Amino acid sequence: PAPVAVGLLGFGTVGSGVVRLIAEHAEELEAELGQRLVVKRILVRDPAKERPVKVPPEVLTTEPGVILDDPEIRIVVEVIGGLEPARTLVLEALRRGKHVVTANKDLMALYGADLLAVAREHGADLYFEASVGGGIPIIRTLMDGFASDRITRIYGIINGTTNYILTQMSRQGRSFDEALREAQALGYAEADPSSDVDGLDAARKMVILATLGFHMPIALDDVAVQGIRGLDRKDIAYADEFGYTVKLLGTAIRDDGSVEIAVQPTLVPKDHPLANVSDAFNAVFVHGEAVGETMFYGQGAGSLPTATAVMSDVVAVIKNMLLGVSGKRLGRPLRPKRLKTPAE
Ligand code: NAP
Ligand code: HSE
Repeated sequence: PAPVAVGLLGFGTVGSGVVRLIAEHAEELEAELGQRLVVKRILVRDPAKERPVKVPPEVLTTEPGVILDDPEIRIVVEVIGGLEPARTLVLEALRRGKHVVTANKDLMALYGADLLAVAREHGADLYFEASVGGGIPIIRTLMDGFASDRITRIYGIINGTTNYILTQMSRQGRSFDEALREAQALGYAEADPSSDVDGLDAARKMVILATLGFHMPIALDDVAVQGIRGLDRKDIAYADEFGYTVKLLGTAIRDDGSVEIAVQPTLVPKDHPLANVSDAFNAVFVHGEAVGETMFYGQGAGSLPTATAVMSDVVAVIKNMLLGVSGKRLGRPLRPKRLKTPAE
């Protein structure tokens, strides 16, 4: 069969990982799908930029229409990040019936429900595994793995940049600024790293996890957010003296039908597994009434780990195409949300 043509929007940390995986794991992908995958075109801002992964120059374009209007490109991978132009491009792709895979939590946390509705309307798939937890397959676990359960708690470390900064400050004596610069150089941070350090990136991920886990339309305003900017090495050293490690935790708790969601620096006892999640690793605990406690751990950011999540979606989308079930991903309907009030 003819190869499946993919159009990539963005060729940065994640986009270059996707191109590498498609080339370097071509054998595994072809065995999985019975078809070859090719990256036909890649949208970038600056085609002249030096890049860690080489592609023929004619693959790069600055014109979205080259991808959106190409009928051969049935799958669009959005790894630009941020709200615009990502939102418009994803919408345009879906309206043309193209399947979209995105790593964009900003987009999914704010416009996920609307975009999924547009996708359904056009018989297209919209998958977003890489939006939370980097290489950890937490989205499909929540959507499918716990389909029969009633989830009561989701909590953990879901931002690689801040976990890297806190680890480097506590173990290597780095300053906040030095550690942030390193996280940026390693490709963990967002284009605007304040969304990492101020907790917004983690809050957006908690919106996605809590919506999927509790089947309620959770919004960003429902999350109480505090980042790590105010912390210095002294705070971390005091915590250490008293037997604690400081971690930026996301917590979503459902109690008697109402939910409470927060992102905040938290003192974690050193003997808790979360205390030993270091650098850009993430760990998510999910507690269900039937399953009890479960823990998911892995690289929460970085080029290839995140690219594996993107590619898991690309593979799922192609399998849906082969089976003729595109645009039909099922899930429990959302019920009205109940937030915990201060009096509760
Ligand atoms: P990045 O390294 O900053 O790459 C962004 C890419 O998008 C660049 O290639 C850039 O082009 C292109 N781009 C930006 N604005 C554009 C525009 N207006 N028109 C056309 N192209 C544009 O970002 P990233 O780290 O790969 O992150 C991409 C997405 O993945 C984000 O949603 C992020 O939150 C998510 N994510 C990232 C990670 C991670 O570890 N980095 C992990 C999970 C999820 P140029 O190269 O020409 O500048
Ligand atoms: N900036 C994000 C982080 C990328 O550090 O976790 C992964 O979503």
